[in-house]
Amino acid sequence: MSSQPTLVTENLVKHFRAGGNATVHAVNGVSFSISPGETLGMVGESGSGKSTIGRTVLRLLSPTAGRILFQGRDISTLPERQCRSLRAEMQMVFQDPWSALNPRLRARALIEEPLLLHSGLGRAERRDKVEALAARVRLGSALLERFPSELSGGQLQRVCIARAIATEPKLIVLDEPTSSLDLSVRAGILELLHELKQETGAAMLFISHDLGTLRLISDRIVVLYLGSVVESGPTRAIFERPEHPYTQALMSAHLPADPTVALSRHVLKGEIPSPINLPPGCGFASRCPLAIERCRAAMPPLAPVPGDNHHAACIRIAEGANRIPA
Ligand SMILES: Nc1ncnc2c1ncn2[C@@H]1O[C@H](COP(=O)(O)OP(=O)(O)O)[C@@H](O)[C@H]1O
Ligand SMILES: [Mg+2]
Repeated sequence: MSSQPTLVTENLVKHFRAGGNATVHAVNGVSFSISPGETLGMVGESGSGKSTIGRTVLRLLSPTAGRILFQGRDISTLPERQCRSLRAEMQMVFQDPWSALNPRLRARALIEEPLLLHSGLGRAERRDKVEALAARVRLGSALLERFPSELSGGQLQRVCIARAIATEPKLIVLDEPTSSLDLSVRAGILELLHELKQETGAAMLFISHDLGTLRLISDRIVVLYLGSVVESGPTRAIFERPEHPYTQALMSAHLPADPTVALSRHVLKGEIPSPINLPPGCGFASRCPLAIERCRAAMPPLAPVPGDNHHAACIRIAEGANRIPA
């Protein structure tokens, strides 16, 4: 892997103003990096700030604080106009392909659109490239003449993926790209993304609320809770030795029912707290079966745990008291 990461965030913060004087603390100091060819999985429950992070690193939103480095260049405060010139190099695939695509354009025109905007290719070259892209995402060429309403969810997501790779971007953010699809279709899309990751050498940020989905495609995983990273590490380490109680709980929710698995399957009781009134200490303390008074006092730092490049933010790890009992 190249020495310069494609994407780096440093203490990324994104707040939204809600009604009155309330502030939504959607993202609260998130740092990570993604190298060329690497896929970083980002997991967390609904409302944990995943989409906000995805949109902010692509500068579809402006960060409240912190830095975003794209190929070494600080883009955190880049004016809107200049952000547009970055679009060809940074692409996004959304959860819902139905609303991501103009219903009045045929698949052919939809895939051609980014080439028209960003490539400078002539008409014949664009036609060839659209055909090649369709073949690449395994969309039969007859389907290119169809409108979105005439395509299935999986076929539409293939159109979206073809659009995303058309300009050979260096970074692709995939925001729950398989969540809206039928189970039978998901595996095919994941397989395609896995191939593209190897072929394109693009850095990918793959967002999902489901750890199982990320297992297949991610090199590393970041676990998000209430807009903060509670654990990060190589995919294998996250699955084999989840350290943070929240990661353990997510894991038990994803594993098939298995009486030998020494984890409660109902660990995650209660709601994720409101990001409007953030609790002072660990955000997970209100739902954590292992929480002690000290957990509510101050936010635990993300600290190294044994293993390569594995970090977790739980003060109970030091005492060896971070394992959720069966
Ligand atoms: N434009 C917005 N204005 C106000 N609050 C927002 C906005 N976008 C997201 N939020 C809030 O920020 C938090 C994180 O949202 P989001 O990033 O969509 O989470 P996720 O993708 O993990 O479900 C949520 O509480 C959500 O309601
Ligand atoms: Mg989301």
